[in-house]
Amino acid sequence: MRIVLVGPPGAGKGTQATRLAETLHIPHISTGDLFRANISQQTELGKLAKSYMDAGNLVPDEVTIAMAKDRMEQPDAEGGFLLDGFPRNVSQAEALDELLETEDMKLDAVLDLEAPEDEVVKRIAGRRVCRNDSAHVFHVTYTPPKKEGVCDVCGGELYQRDDDSEETVRKRLEVYHTQTEPIIDYYKSQGLVATIAATGPVDEVTRRALEALKRDQ
Ligand code: AP5
Repeated sequence: MRIVLVGPPGAGKGTQATRLAETLHIPHISTGDLFRANISQQTELGKLAKSYMDAGNLVPDEVTIAMAKDRMEQPDAEGGFLLDGFPRNVSQAEALDELLETEDMKLDAVLDLEAPEDEVVKRIAGRRVCRNDSAHVFHVTYTPPKKEGVCDVCGGELYQRDDDSEETVRKRLEVYHTQTEPIIDYYKSQGLVATIAATGPVDEVTRRALEALKRDQ
């Protein structure tokens, strides 16, 4: 399956993508994680991306599309993928359509995760991520690690993302409403969107997502 996950920052895209990718046996491709890996490796792309990410803005389309294309062309993505955080505006969605068309492929579904703004702000404020593996995500209140500051899975150090400050989160939400939300209508016109509530226990959200995907098959 080829799936796109959409939703505001903190809706739980990364949390759900890890679980869905495992169940559906497809790679989880997160442009945010790819940028963060470049930042920690101090590549030129990482240096460029950091200035945009720290301000809560989108990284320019040209470099983002090239990076996503390169990742989607890896052998493990031949049978499908779950895109998290890409596309993030209509020009990226059009570029993805073009790319899929040249390969004679198409998307199967766009999962739209809905969550109220006060909830996503709380989720982001309490999020802690493992330095060793960005798939290991905790929340100081909702899903706290057994030992403060230490990843339950691998013992790595937990940290708060640089772009999770309150000011940057407000900016990221504004960017989501103005630039990313329009892709929901873009994909609705292709009959691909399944909207699910991203509130309640994590397992329950995963169940809703899998059910919505089954309906779309
Ligand atoms: P990115 O990394 O994609 O961030 P985001 O979209 O802002 O989303 P988040 O990672 O903040 O949240 P999430 O929805 O994944 O939530 P999570 O599962 O962690 O992008 C970062 C930046 O990179 C962008 O601002 C931009 O600058 C750049 N970028 C990336 N892609 C780009 C693109 N295509 N074009 C241009 N620029 C791009 O959950 C959040 C917290 O809530 C966690 O603590 C989790 O444990 C908790 N939680 C999750 N689910 C639940 C639940 N059901 N109940 C209680 N707590 C929950």
